[in-house]
Amino acid sequence: MAIQAPATRPANPRFSSGPCAKIPTFSLDLLSDAPLGRSHRAAVGKAKLLAAIETTRDILGIPADYKIGIVPGSDTGAVEMAMWSLLGARKATMVAWESFGAGWVTDVVKQLKIDADVMTAEYGDIVDFDKVDFNTDVVFTWNGTTSGARVPNGDKIPAARDGLTICDATSAAFAMDLPWDKLDVTTFSWQKVLGGEAAHGIIVLSPRAVERLESYTPAWPMPKIFRMTKGGKLIDGIFKGETINTPSMLAVEDYLVALEWAKSVGGLEGLIARATANAKVIWDFCDAKPWIANLANDPATASNTSVCLKFTDDRIQDGAAFAKAVAKRLEVEGVALDIGAYRDAPAGLRIWCGGTVETADVAALMPWLEYAFEAEIAAQ
Ligand SMILES: Cc1ncc(COP(=O)(O)O)c(C=O)c1O
Repeated sequence: MAIQAPATRPANPRFSSGPCAKIPTFSLDLLSDAPLGRSHRAAVGKAKLLAAIETTRDILGIPADYKIGIVPGSDTGAVEMAMWSLLGARKATMVAWESFGAGWVTDVVKQLKIDADVMTAEYGDIVDFDKVDFNTDVVFTWNGTTSGARVPNGDKIPAARDGLTICDATSAAFAMDLPWDKLDVTTFSWQKVLGGEAAHGIIVLSPRAVERLESYTPAWPMPKIFRMTKGGKLIDGIFKGETINTPSMLAVEDYLVALEWAKSVGGLEGLIARATANAKVIWDFCDAKPWIANLANDPATASNTSVCLKFTDDRIQDGAAFAKAVAKRLEVEGVALDIGAYRDAPAGLRIWCGGTVETADVAALMPWLEYAFEAEIAAQ
């Protein structure tokens, strides 16, 4: 019997985990107020950068005494800047359960050569946070973008701790509740949950992180691009929109537009609800189908942004080739772009569910997933 293609297609097939789908209302015309060809240090540029910082604070509920900076190098730049500037004052604990977290482990252990305990878990699990010593500096990734497993909440992080927590929250910010009192450094990039443009990162510093910056000088040289202090004092301007180097004012405008859209859907609460509704469509689909499962083993840790899936049907002969063929078929059909699992992750699919994705599109994709699965089983 020929396998029938579903009648309905997602209106937007963009399910990439970064850069992520742009806001549903996006049009280049929305960027017409960008002060292009002007200095970012002119009043108009500085006002835009400050607005980006303060609107981020409002939407994410970041406390007034936390510093927010726009930094070069996207999320990677923000994480590296934090690690290079803050680590080494005390022992560190490096926590990882997928490839981005593993990358931070490598940098700290092999490049910075910090005295660190390394705690890892396999793709699909997270580490046991009860065993993490928060009197050390702890570096971890809130949502493992490449495994779809996240920290469920901040309950395991003590409010009173001697170490700093440095959290890569790039696929979590604007989709998950981040407990600011438990996080000393939080980073994310614009290209993720709000579907912004790549290039810039955000770094959020708690008062304790600032205190460390002002009281500790690492033994290694600090590239200008990472420098947050001068003469032992925080360079306050960075956190008011006086960026270290030149930002893209087009990307800034795009981020401002995305923030306004975020407000229009109910701010953080609305964004979390949208992401969770999207992910639930896939979770329910997995519950109903015996041949596919969430890569996250514990539903409490299942991501509502980067939903990672594995095929579990024992008719599949070559898991990696099968998953690639399914992703390819969906791309060729024009119903899902960029949903193959990350290159270092177990074979499978990864479907982005952040708030810029419409639930109707995720729902429309599910029958296509079944169609592609059946077609590839038949084609083996
Ligand atoms: C958890 C995590 N960290 C870091 C990065 C790198 O982000 P960027 O390319 O914005 O620097 C990504 C990108 O997907 C990510 O998911």
